[in-house]
Amino acid sequence: MIPSKISPSMMCADLAALPETLAVFADTDIEYLHMDVMDGHFVENLCLGTDFCRQIRKMTAIPLDYHLMITEPEKKLSWFDIQPGDIVAVHAEATHHLQKTLTAIRARGAHPFAALNPATPLSALDYVLDVLDGVLIMTVNPGFAGQKLIPATLDKIADCRRFLDAHGYSDIVIEVDGNVSFENAIKMRAAGADLFVAGTSSVFAKDGDLLTNIEKFREAIR
Ligand code: DX5
Ligand code: ZN
Repeated sequence: MIPSKISPSMMCADLAALPETLAVFADTDIEYLHMDVMDGHFVENLCLGTDFCRQIRKMTAIPLDYHLMITEPEKKLSWFDIQPGDIVAVHAEATHHLQKTLTAIRARGAHPFAALNPATPLSALDYVLDVLDGVLIMTVNPGFAGQKLIPATLDKIADCRRFLDAHGYSDIVIEVDGNVSFENAIKMRAAGADLFVAGTSSVFAKDGDLLTNIEKFREAIR
């Protein structure tokens, strides 16, 4: 089993407390920062522009986990300061050139991930497994934080783990994104998820302090 890792969703962070938040993340060995980039076209929201991503990069050494909810990502990779060790997830539904885009991400030394909306079948991955380091399974419809888990996506996580293992790609990571609450994270881990996008229903939950929430979440995904 791939060790579980946490990628806090920076669209859910309190911008007024960003330095303190990033310091806690560094102290608790948070593995990635999830950067939800939205263009108002692929999803009906605008979020986390290129300058914001560059600012975050200057403030921390934690690798970025770009979730590009943008159309034609193959034309826009150069808009971002992608560094070796980052994750870059592009939506299979947002490009006619998934294989080319994933190859271009790997050529930058970053980890290519294919993101799948809830309704998109795993067969979208059939011919790109050799250029994938991860699959980002959306457990809500992309675009907004604070939504509720789509129950069918729990089966999709398990189906994806079986699919990857059956094709000899057990080292491909499964990332889950959307209402990854303390409770849902336990089910997602049991289903085969490895990388957890932590947002308003876990690490940034209002009814707890950040450090306690991180410790509680770490326990949930062990
Ligand atoms: C959806 C976003 C959200 C965000 C986390 O497009 O990707 O999933 O990261 O939001 P919560 O954890 O509140 O669902
Ligand atoms: Zn996301």
